[in-house]
Amino acid sequence: MWYPPNGIRYKLTETHWPTVEEVSKSLLFQPIKIGNVTLSSRTWVPAMVPWRATEDGFVTEDNLDWYGRFAVGRPGAIVVEATGIRDIPSGPLLRIGHDRFIPGLKKMVEHVKEESHGETRFFIQIIDFLSVKRRPEPDKYFSKFLTITQDHRKKLAEILNSENWLTVDEINVRLFLQNASESLQDQIMNEREIESLRQGYRERVTDEHLPHIKNLPEVLPGIFAAAAIRAREAGFDGVELHYAHAYTMASFLSARNNRTDGYGGSKENRVKLPLEVYKAVRKSVGNDYVVGLRFLGDEVIEAGNRIDDAIYFGEEFARIGFDFLSISKGGKFEDAKQPKIGAAVYPYTGPSGYECMPTMNSDEIGPFGRNINLATKIKQAVNQAGFFPPIITAGGISTFELAEKTLQENKADIIASARQSLADPDWFLKIKLGRGQEIRRCNYTNYCEALDQLHKEVTCKLWDQKKEPGVKLTSDGRRRMIPPDWEK
Ligand SMILES: Cc1cc2nc3c(=O)[nH]c(=O)nc-3n(C[C@H](O)[C@H](O)[C@H](O)COP(=O)(O)O)c2cc1C
Ligand code: SF4
Repeated sequence: MWYPPNGIRYKLTETHWPTVEEVSKSLLFQPIKIGNVTLSSRTWVPAMVPWRATEDGFVTEDNLDWYGRFAVGRPGAIVVEATGIRDIPSGPLLRIGHDRFIPGLKKMVEHVKEESHGETRFFIQIIDFLSVKRRPEPDKYFSKFLTITQDHRKKLAEILNSENWLTVDEINVRLFLQNASESLQDQIMNEREIESLRQGYRERVTDEHLPHIKNLPEVLPGIFAAAAIRAREAGFDGVELHYAHAYTMASFLSARNNRTDGYGGSKENRVKLPLEVYKAVRKSVGNDYVVGLRFLGDEVIEAGNRIDDAIYFGEEFARIGFDFLSISKGGKFEDAKQPKIGAAVYPYTGPSGYECMPTMNSDEIGPFGRNINLATKIKQAVNQAGFFPPIITAGGISTFELAEKTLQENKADIIASARQSLADPDWFLKIKLGRGQEIRRCNYTNYCEALDQLHKEVTCKLWDQKKEPGVKLTSDGRRRMIPPDWEK
């Protein structure tokens, strides 16, 4: 995990929890409309991958327990984890790329309605992602994966000052590179080859030489639209198109996208496919269904999008008809930490990952509400342009005081809390009942995120302070699968 250098170690401070009367006067607990749907309050549990689906992407009892448990706290809305829209294996992550996934998803919808007594609106985040391979054993990389080219031979001849390298056998080039120092490898291999060796091979939307990447603009609108129809059939109140973090659609939006086919380069070109995907989704689900999105207020990486790009995109998204705009920050592969051999690069380990899920080791701004300013700037521009889709902000919001102040000052329309809701899914209910002092407060040390990185069942460290007999444990037998019940 990356921390700001020479950072400050923050602690949780006392906060004022409201009385029932204060709650009744608050904005946080006022309803809000999103498209044709009304949320009972402006509280939101954003998407969080819990690693609980079957290996082939079906809903399990553990998924039901997970979402059902969040629903008990009755937030205004819950967004289901990033759910894959293709019919391809992706490990224990939920999928919606075929009709066979609908019955399980339907069960989940029914369970959430039941557990929240019909109060919580239930959306699903739908995602496309490209291939990311694990960091290889160097021996294997040089003997199997690296394609030896004439370019390598030319560079070897040049650097070693011997024309013999121009005709040397492939096997000898491989052996030389394998035993070369890192700096020599850097001189001979190209940037992508070095990345494949030291981080693991990763596809990009700019790999236009690969037919399946080249044709993304033809393929994606259709598969997003088909996934949205399935979401509607399963009974979800709406879909959230995942245009944020390290994944395909965010990469189209990125300032680093220099595709040459009209879908890269200028902002207008980069937003083209995201808008085409929206149109296809809207056409398939109709005007009365909620279609929102999540995108980045700032990519954080070098040469990536800044707030000005995000403002432009926000206006375009609002103009075309998205029902809500959920703003996140960072979470990119480009600045991620080098993974261990055999592990895959994880987009929340570098500076952009830190900005996405800020921790208590922070800088002078601190982890609390750190990203609200991005949502505010986008909201102001979108509203000034005459559009009013609710703008959702996330990032270190775990007190009523901060949530309410953000709404009162018109900085955002809905407050999303991921880790605080994980630490205590009853926290909304506790506030509403004037019992905020009983909230188990997230300490933002990112134990949960570390589990996500290891592809282990996500749990919260604080849950394990209470272990009663018979409670379901994770597959390593060490942790509770769901939080303790609130003993009212
Ligand atoms: C374990 C875990 C899994 C996450 N999975 C997703 C995801 O599937 N999609 C997404 O957009 N964000 C995901 N996030 C990011 C959160 O939705 C949220 O934006 C981030 O944690 C910052 O909010 P917070 O400070 O309230 O936790 C995940 C966060 C955590 C901790
Ligand atoms: S594990 Fe830590 S960071 Fe994650 S929700 Fe629990 S207290 Fe918060």
